[in-house]
Amino acid sequence: MIVAVSGKGGVGKTAFTTLLVKALSKKNKNILVVDADPDSNLPDTLGVEVEKTVGDIREELKKIVESKKELPGGMSKLEFLKSKIYEILVETDNYDLLVMGRPEGSGCYCSVNNWLRQIIDELSKYYDYVIIDTEAGLEHLSRRTTQNVDLMIVVTDPSKRGLKTAERIKKLANELEVKFKDIYVVANKVKPEYEKLVEEYAKELNLKLIGKLPYNKEIAEYDLKGIPLWNLPEDNEAYKRVKEIVDKYL
Ligand SMILES: Nc1ncnc2c1ncn2[C@@H]1O[C@H](COP(=O)(O)OP(=O)(O)O)[C@@H](O)[C@H]1O
Ligand SMILES: [Mg+2]
Repeated sequence: MIVAVSGKGGVGKTAFTTLLVKALSKKNKNILVVDADPDSNLPDTLGVEVEKTVGDIREELKKIVESKKELPGGMSKLEFLKSKIYEILVETDNYDLLVMGRPEGSGCYCSVNNWLRQIIDELSKYYDYVIIDTEAGLEHLSRRTTQNVDLMIVVTDPSKRGLKTAERIKKLANELEVKFKDIYVVANKVKPEYEKLVEEYAKELNLKLIGKLPYNKEIAEYDLKGIPLWNLPEDNEAYKRVKEIVDKYL
């Protein structure tokens, strides 16, 4: 199952993705996590070091091609990319992580991007779950990662405007090359007294609201101090809500 987490900047995509992976990892499944935000900070919230990104590999290949040098071992470009991607994949006890890094610069190197997508699609087949933390703005998704997404989870702040953005993302999603089987919404940083209202608005807008996470001081404090959210205790209130989502929908 391929899950993409999207939404506006700052709504909590990365925090939610981290807790989602944490909850999923308890199920003993094979998980691939893809950080598709060029301004990546998912490794920090997960608490892992990442040395190289897919973007770095694209640049490496570009340099070799431009200098007209041979690829090592007489590999084809596709083989080179593939071997490098497997090399930079960070393996942990709970999941594997691939960081996309910076997008292609000017002078689109389109065939390379197609190959990268092909490689990632192929890689995805080895996993039970692929969880993608996306860049704000949907256009990037089709271009940069994968073509087949089963589930898109739109994270939003608890405001009518935020929910309307979620609705817009949902509509936009129908026009993209990437097809989503289902689109769900998660409201984040919700005060308890507003939960009902958020539900009503979501209903009005025909959004499938699958969870409401509270504003959580522990999350704010961990992020402030640079402690990985992965280390949040099992009884953290936001994490408990994410576990419910995982049990019910994933
Ligand atoms: N449930 C929450 N409670 C408190 N703070 C949160 C919560 N979710 C996210 N945040 C804070 O909001 C900010 C943005 O979160 P982040 O996950 O980086 O958003 P995004 O990835 O969508 O840009 C961070 O400072 C994070 O600590
Ligand atoms: Mg983020």
